[in-house]
Amino acid sequence: MSAILLNGTEIRKEILAEIQQEVESIKAAHGVVPGLVTILVGSNAASLSYVSLKVKTAHSLGFKEIQDNQPDDISEAALLALLAKYQQDESIHGILVQLPLPSHINEKVVLNAIDPNKDVDGFHPVNVGRLVIGGTEAIFPPCTPAGIQEMIRRSGVETRGAEVVVVGRSNIVGKPIANMLLQKGPGANATVTVVHTATRDLAAHCQRADILIVAAGVPGLVKPEWIKPGACVIDVGVNRVGETVSPTTGRTVAILRGDVDFDEASKIAGFITPVPGGVGPMTIAMLMRNTLNSLKFKLGI
Ligand code: GUN
Repeated sequence: MSAILLNGTEIRKEILAEIQQEVESIKAAHGVVPGLVTILVGSNAASLSYVSLKVKTAHSLGFKEIQDNQPDDISEAALLALLAKYQQDESIHGILVQLPLPSHINEKVVLNAIDPNKDVDGFHPVNVGRLVIGGTEAIFPPCTPAGIQEMIRRSGVETRGAEVVVVGRSNIVGKPIANMLLQKGPGANATVTVVHTATRDLAAHCQRADILIVAAGVPGLVKPEWIKPGACVIDVGVNRVGETVSPTTGRTVAILRGDVDFDEASKIAGFITPVPGGVGPMTIAMLMRNTLNSLKFKLGI
């Protein structure tokens, strides 16, 4: 392996320490702490584990955190009423509805009902518009793309004028990260290409990428020979390819694989993220940062 490892777990630690310090000084000066509500509908195992980690992290930083679990059969109207309650709650600065929602609930209706100024996921159309406009408008960058940009920035990899290729055009990762990296300003100013399932020559595009961001959800999609020597490779894929029994806990755990062949790619790339332990841990740190920022906007600081 010659590539420098971009360790999301370590970077997350640094960011959370910075957030914790800010929370303490805001509490001392203004007597308030960031408030986050996490709404989980049903008992999807993966969602439950994501939400638990979000709640645990928020508590560890001194946030007010409400975990509001609702049954699988909650009506859309009742969920909207719950949102209305939290929109009016002055002590809540961030509202997150964990996705996916059960099929009888229209996800779009729910996401559009969240107050854009408490939408710490950055999924509301108003926040998508703010992100595209850029600059100071972009108040809540979606958490996974924000984590990617932060990792690139902290690695010291130059984005200005860099050829960035984004593999995948999802609303949660591909489209927002492409928009963020093409904006003017630090950690951006790149020349961005987005490739997808209808792209003719995926390999040729990837081969000219100084920064290659892969969020396709296809294990091993990017072949080592598609990577430009020295490139920065960000693998957003978290694909469950099997199960194994943990030798330490004896519990059955998922075997996770990224969209990039890590072992081979790390011999060619200059920087690379592992799966797990790369982009994943950054997402929660960015959620905490968005919630803190929501409070700061409210206080005008
Ligand atoms: N489900 C999987 N990822 C996310 C996320 O980033 N936010 C929400 N709300 N739900 C998710």
